Amino acid sequence: MALRTKLTELFGIAHPVVLAPMGAATGGKLAAAVARAGGLGLIGAGYGDADWLAREFDLAGDARVGVGFITWSLAGKPRLLDLALARSPVAVMLSFGDPTPFAAAIKGAGAKLICQVQSVAQAREAAQAGADLIVAQGSEAGGHGASRGTLALVPAVVDAVAPIPVAAAGGIADGRGLAAALMLGAAGALMGTLFYATEECLASPAAKRRLVHAGGDDTLRTTVFDIARGYDWPAPYTGRAIGNDFTRRWHGREGELARVASAERERYAKAAAAGDVETAVVFAGEGIDLIHEIVPAEQVVTRLVAEAEACLAGVAAVRAP
Ligand SMILES: Cc1cc2nc3c(=O)[nH]c(=O)nc-3n(C[C@H](O)[C@H](O)[C@H](O)COP(=O)(O)O)c2cc1C
Repeated sequence: MALRTKLTELFGIAHPVVLAPMGAATGGKLAAAVARAGGLGLIGAGYGDADWLAREFDLAGDARVGVGFITWSLAGKPRLLDLALARSPVAVMLSFGDPTPFAAAIKGAGAKLICQVQSVAQAREAAQAGADLIVAQGSEAGGHGASRGTLALVPAVVDAVAPIPVAAAGGIADGRGLAAALMLGAAGALMGTLFYATEECLASPAAKRRLVHAGGDDTLRTTVFDIARGYDWPAPYTGRAIGNDFTRRWHGREGELARVASAERERYAKAAAAGDVETAVVFAGEGIDLIHEIVPAEQVVTRLVAEAEACLAGVAAVRAP
């Protein structure tokens, strides 16, 4: 049984599996590996560094990949979007902010527009902006996001934006999650945390080990890492990360942290450069309970799809008379 959906049709790919554009972690090699395995791979441009982005597109080689930006940080950096569009990406994903100012350029360049949203209202705005695919991201997700849970948000977004296809995101880390996303009416799933634990992911070995050994109970949504890194994230966004010494010290004392930010920023930057994961952030979603090893990305895609197919076949068997 092949999992054919509106998402696989839209991108001409084999599996309804999308690699999240995790800033600085999802480089060209990982995006290309997912594309070659039959999914959609998106390079994570994050806050946007032109040289980094050019290098990662080069590393993707001839694989058909896309790219994802943090929308609010793209404002004032039009050159960065031009640079990406010049590489003929299969898709551009915009998250965290109004996609409208960028939609015409993206679609005009022949790329599909993917918008990641955290509420039904944002999903309607993305549909209005011309999104070809809408990612409904629940609060279980690793990295930045908002407050609604995946289980209720996904079908509500599916209903609100039909017939535009929707991908589910947030807490999906095995084939059961992918199958559940399809049962909710999504046309596929976008996953970040699961692909963080791959050989091709650009995160440090220490960060990957941390993710593999921690559980969902160890994660929390917080703004302390953004304050320490000097990123001015707008409301309502917080980031889900694995708790560490830094969160134990500062989470809940954000005002105080902001007051000593310049000193803490220096300490934080040094620790991050040294790979100290007790201070530096490891963004990860609640799905880490299900992740036990670091493997090649192709293996992740193959296993995910086989598990989802088995789950759905099981459901069909249960329903058979
Ligand atoms: C380490 C990490 C970094 C992320 N960075 C970004 C980013 O730069 N831009 C973005 O749109 N989403 C980012 N995300 C969120 C993903 O797009 C996606 O919503 C999330 O990974 C889905 O939930 P999951 O982690 O449970 O699979 C990041 C997620 C993780 C885990």
